[in-house]
Amino acid sequence: MANDKHPDTKVVQGGRRKEWLRNMVNVPVSRTSTVLFDNMEASREAYPPVNGRLSYGRNGTWTQWSLAEALTELEPGAEGTMLFPSGSAAVSIALTSVLAPGDELLMVDSTYGPTRHFCDRELKRLNVSTVYYDPLSSPAEIEALIGEKTRAVFMESPGSLTFEVQDVPGICAMAKARGLSTLLDNTWATSFFFTAIDKGVDLSVVACTKYISGHSDVMMGAVTAATSHMTRLTRTSRSFGQYVSPDDAYLVARGLRTLGARLRQHELGAVKVAHWLKDQPQVARVIHPAFADCPGHAFWKRDFTGSTGLFSVALKGGSAADLDRLIDSLELFGIGYSWGGFESLAMSADTDNLRTAALRDYGGPLLRLHIGLEDPDDLIADLSAALADYPAA
Ligand SMILES: Cc1ncc(COP(=O)(O)O)c(C=O)c1O
Repeated sequence: MANDKHPDTKVVQGGRRKEWLRNMVNVPVSRTSTVLFDNMEASREAYPPVNGRLSYGRNGTWTQWSLAEALTELEPGAEGTMLFPSGSAAVSIALTSVLAPGDELLMVDSTYGPTRHFCDRELKRLNVSTVYYDPLSSPAEIEALIGEKTRAVFMESPGSLTFEVQDVPGICAMAKARGLSTLLDNTWATSFFFTAIDKGVDLSVVACTKYISGHSDVMMGAVTAATSHMTRLTRTSRSFGQYVSPDDAYLVARGLRTLGARLRQHELGAVKVAHWLKDQPQVARVIHPAFADCPGHAFWKRDFTGSTGLFSVALKGGSAADLDRLIDSLELFGIGYSWGGFESLAMSADTDNLRTAALRDYGGPLLRLHIGLEDPDDLIADLSAALADYPAA
């Protein structure tokens, strides 16, 4: 598909090649391990594996290729996309593809917890050191951390739990000038609201488990690469035997087709609920990238085309136990370690043990909300009843 189309058109049309559709609307689920060839010459021509040429089950069929192609088309300037069994697998393989023993990684302090654990455990074991930087660091401040062994800068914008928005284009320009690879966890915005590759990111990671699939019933990750990083991403991914099933690829592609409609509805609901929360006496502040007082809001305004359903609320005083009671009393919000599905969720956003470079006091416990596709007025009524019993300072 020509790359001049709008994101809404791309999520509907992307990856739906005529030869893969075979007169159906959706690319069918085609399962296989073994691929049979007409003769030996054809078996040799199947390698190296490329999307669009059957070789072996692990290298996918049109079901997985179609999804990968659709995700690539959402990122102007991208070369291709590799799929992974989870968002965390996508993060760890992307990092492994650019790092070698003896290297150093600059990692944003507000990164998703398991990403941090991968760095502190697995990368450390492989003699790769990690230096954490404050998510509010300017490109120049990050540049000052670069040493002889530094090879890559990892960003997550907005950050997990605390939603700091980073100057991704500025950091990428600096990193490129210093010969470093750049990686971004783009799960919150997805490439629907933030195109990463054309802003200078080399490897853009999305946990499709969240908004891309959107229905809380499948796990998957994807890494979309700039041309300069596609070969190493492909090689590392294949060497580690990464694979997603056609059944899961079908579910994620099915979710992708409605991504635009869902994200805008999440955005509307979340902004309405967040505005209401901001004025409640029990709330110290709302941390939402579209709000002017969110750290890095100017970068959100400059670089993003929308906001999604996930944000945090700092309560005015009260204890962690008070927050637990508040969450337990909610009726419409599920309690779960995820987000990005059609349903609303609430979770305490405890950053203890997840920050070393940017320790911030928000004055009270942090509540993370995912605003689903329910009517926001019903969610506000639910929150109102729960907040009424909160012992605010
Ligand atoms: C920002 C972010 N990145 C990556 C992941 C990992 O995705 P998965 O749960 O599919 O491994 C998550 C999951 O919550 C996440 O919130």
